[in-house]
Amino acid sequence: MTDQGKINREGARPASLFERADAAWGLDPRERAPRVPPVPLDIPPVPAALRRPVAPQAAPQPGQAAPQAAPQAAQSASATPAPRAVVFSGPDVAIDREHLRDGGLIVPEDPVTGLLEEFRIVKRELLADARTGASARSRRILVCSPHSGEGKTYCAANLAIALAAERNLEVLLVDADVVQPSITERFGIEDARGLMDALADPRVLPESLVLRTDIEGLFVLPAGTATSNDAEYLASTRTAEVLDRLTEGAPDRIVIFDTPPALAASAAAELAQHVGQALLVVRADETSRAALEDAQQLLSACADIKLLLNAARYSPSGRRFGSYYGAKGK
Ligand SMILES: Nc1ncnc2c1ncn2[C@@H]1O[C@H](COP(=O)(O)OP(=O)(O)O)[C@@H](O)[C@H]1O
Ligand SMILES: [Mg+2]
Repeated sequence: MTDQGKINREGARPASLFERADAAWGLDPRERAPRVPPVPLDIPPVPAALRRPVAPQAAPQPGQAAPQAAPQAAQSASATPAPRAVVFSGPDVAIDREHLRDGGLIVPEDPVTGLLEEFRIVKRELLADARTGASARSRRILVCSPHSGEGKTYCAANLAIALAAERNLEVLLVDADVVQPSITERFGIEDARGLMDALADPRVLPESLVLRTDIEGLFVLPAGTATSNDAEYLASTRTAEVLDRLTEGAPDRIVIFDTPPALAASAAAELAQHVGQALLVVRADETSRAALEDAQQLLSACADIKLLLNAARYSPSGRRFGSYYGAKGK
């Protein structure tokens, strides 16, 4: 891993952010890996509380033969009933729009900006793949990058806001960066218990910790209380239970995970096992090819890794500007 070349992307105008990154690196993870991840074999049994109640059978009258079940009915009776989606039941919180604006995030009520257009393109690609997959896992998306400061939280938050604008879609933004949590701060809301509390204590219902924001369709699960065992909790079987509980039976629910740097903490690699797509954020002129390849390796449990080139600017002629895309005063 000696190649320290940085992203250099002059002279082309590709159609989407994914293509930009792929073209920049000569990598196309979608060719390497199937677009639709295989259905996982290790989904733990659905907790009894989540199962659909089975309607009581009418007892046969005396002397009457028990009704013969139709073959189709018999088949569905033997199949595991589909779980019902849990309802997010945490506190209501108001997101300060001015705070969003100051942080360079999308403000839902504002006129359409270039930033929103970029994230619309990103969300279309992610949604298409999320909807193709049949499992709850396909609707879970990890946002990660090799190092800190490359724009994971910025992209995760903007993506969540852009997705929440979709009609009938629920978006849950999970702060899985327990070392440096920042989602509540970016949204200007009070920190609260969250993911780590649900992982640490099996009696905690994760849905009861999900904050219901005043942006329609947008929900937040904060990182929660950090302990010295966070890595072990994330690696435990409880993680699958919690994530299944938050996503199963909800085909119109997308979960976005903001994570710590993939090369500095194990959370992204652990969560990669539970998601259908991983969005690997690459910061123009900063992320090295070696770091990107190492991160891809660590996330290899996820079959669908997409690259997102962040903070690049393009002129109409296709020449790249060096400053942040959408940055204020830069
Ligand atoms: N495309 C961008 N345009 C403007 N600011 C950005 C962009 N990407 C990241 N930033 C800013 O850069 C800083 C680091 O980004 P952040 O999302 O916190 O990185 P990470 O989560 O990877 O550590 C933040 O202040 C963020 O607002
Ligand atoms: Mg971050």
